[in-house]
Amino acid sequence: MTTAPFPNRPRVDAREKVTGRLKYAADVALEGLLYGMMVTSTIARGRVGKVETDAALAVPGVVRVLTAADCPAPPPPGPGGPPPPPMIVDRISYRGEPVALVVAESHEAAVEGMEAVRVRYEAAAFSPLIDSEGGVREPVEDVKAGDADAALAGAVTRLSGEYFSPNQHHNPIEMLSTTAVWADGRLQVYEGTQGSNMVKGAIAGNLRLDPAKVVVSSPSVGGGFGQKGFAQRQTSLAALAAVLIGRPVKIVVPRAQIFHNATYRPRSRHRIELGADAAGKLVAIRYDADHQQSRRGQFAPEYHESSTQMYGVENYLGTAANIRIDTQAPGYMRAPHPHPQAFALESAVDELALKLGVDPVEFRLRHDATTDPIHNKPLSSRHLNACIREGARRFGWRDRPLAPASMGLEDGVQVGWGMASGAYPVLTHPAEATLRVSADGTTRFSATAHEMGQGIRSTLEQVLIRALDIDPRKLEIRIGDTSVAAQHVTAGSWGTASGATAAGEAAAALKARMAELLEGRAVSGNLHQQLAAVRRPFVEVEISRVGPGQGPRDLATLRAGGMAISGPVYPEFTSFSYIAHFVEVRVEPRTRRIRVPRVVSVADCGRVVSPRTAESQVRGGVVWGVSAALREETEVDPRYGGWLNNDLADYVVAVNADIGDIEVGMIDQPDPVINAIGAKGLGEVAMVGVAGAVANAVFHATGVRVRKMPIRIEDLL
Ligand code: MOS
Repeated sequence: MTTAPFPNRPRVDAREKVTGRLKYAADVALEGLLYGMMVTSTIARGRVGKVETDAALAVPGVVRVLTAADCPAPPPPGPGGPPPPPMIVDRISYRGEPVALVVAESHEAAVEGMEAVRVRYEAAAFSPLIDSEGGVREPVEDVKAGDADAALAGAVTRLSGEYFSPNQHHNPIEMLSTTAVWADGRLQVYEGTQGSNMVKGAIAGNLRLDPAKVVVSSPSVGGGFGQKGFAQRQTSLAALAAVLIGRPVKIVVPRAQIFHNATYRPRSRHRIELGADAAGKLVAIRYDADHQQSRRGQFAPEYHESSTQMYGVENYLGTAANIRIDTQAPGYMRAPHPHPQAFALESAVDELALKLGVDPVEFRLRHDATTDPIHNKPLSSRHLNACIREGARRFGWRDRPLAPASMGLEDGVQVGWGMASGAYPVLTHPAEATLRVSADGTTRFSATAHEMGQGIRSTLEQVLIRALDIDPRKLEIRIGDTSVAAQHVTAGSWGTASGATAAGEAAAALKARMAELLEGRAVSGNLHQQLAAVRRPFVEVEISRVGPGQGPRDLATLRAGGMAISGPVYPEFTSFSYIAHFVEVRVEPRTRRIRVPRVVSVADCGRVVSPRTAESQVRGGVVWGVSAALREETEVDPRYGGWLNNDLADYVVAVNADIGDIEVGMIDQPDPVINAIGAKGLGEVAMVGVAGAVANAVFHATGVRVRKMPIRIEDLL
């Protein structure tokens, strides 16, 4: 396979997307469709007593009301990944948990029915916040290298700080939804998900169905960001209702219910101590992190994966803990741990550099690394210094005064320049693919992958049309569908490294098959024309592949619908993607309003397979980083539990007017060992460090160090 740079081509679904023609899961129209609405708990903990359904059943159009009594008991655990979310329960563990499902002939009737259901509760005491009484602190294993305490004790310059990241909710434009059709003993499910096999496994488990009888289709997802990685609270409910009633059922979850039932980014605290020697070299990091957790949640506080890789520090001690309270389970949300971790560490490093009197760019350039100090393995590739140099050049960093509060405009606006860097693990999973090229001019590629808007279809197309002389206009890419290939969860920025590599191997296998077929005959034309010439209707190959260090067991896990991830620590090496961000902020003199007129970000994601969608991914990450730094926080109502600002009016996100110029650069150097294409991963690293760069710029503008997100006007008054 060639390792030359890929051309910048338009995304394959661009026209469909901008004209609104692209169909999402809830757009499916079906004969005899019923609509479901969940009734949700108004207590945060306790038991459900009587559920009064008479008034709801009297609403014209309401067909049935399901309660816990209709739901089978939870299944035994499946093959990897979290257990499927339960359906309706009679023990409440967070406010907003479903206690009934109203199914009706129309959406309006379902809403009216939902409002008419009366639920009696036996409420119990609950712990709504991480510092509430009744919260349980649960430490996990330390991450250690060298002797951080001794190195800190011997350090010449020390710095410590405590940093806070709030609860946040991802709000993809496409709402959560499930549509289920039960016919002839077979269940067809439409759900916008990053993990169609997870959805399939959850439904089969919860409903005690043979998984072979369940098909889940998720061809296009309107934003995932980790929220749609696993089955949702409504998933099995829609399936159960369809089976019990014998008609198709659709549940579209309203935004407020999504806030309460989907996973979210948990509040986290980061206490960091840094030590530098007489030469200003960082010699030790002590890092204690903890985060909000539900009573049984499994989203681990893994805050040390990227932080150990930034500065080649040999003495590292990282502790971490869950704080278990009465909330719904937190989970993966874009750059799950590295985003808050980088806000903390990159702020601390900025503070340390200033204390040492060293420019923060210079400080970072002096701390390049070639090995993973925790596992003593070589890094597969690292071009972070190239990212920093290129970013600094494009941004014009050279002209920056070191002292804070020293750049201003005539009208009193304070100007600050800040930078930060980030790393994100490179992960791989097994994949299967079937590639068929036909004499009629069509090509069909079916594979393990999900399109969440990140551009995986465009990425797969790039690989296929470079390797094969086929008609790109008649190339169909079938992904996200459990009937065409086993569908591993697509998240964690592992889609390209896994899917594009599978496309490359399928193309190579197809070429070999063609050569066999032609037996040395020279036939002219593209592959379709060649097939026609030798009177073959089509040629088809099937491949499966695993990541470095993986084997048949991982393929079996993929086929059973489980999680089969390898990395970032592989048998022979450790692999990370990197990025550097440069941010300008302007702080208005009286209102103290913070504006971000420009950002320059340069990424090392190995070989860029789809330049167009890659650049778009980085822009998206920067937008979210700015939004996280200055806007987003979900607030708990300590009186009742649950989330106060549970809609897009009160959960404030950055809008167009908040975003200035974003300039994106790519190093585009193929990684020599991760896979044949040399592609690492990009989606999440794009966001890592942005918030730290904003905080550092705010400090540089004003001299005020804000150690929590979001940074608000009142923090600068
Ligand atoms: Mo990733 S947490 O699936 O954006």
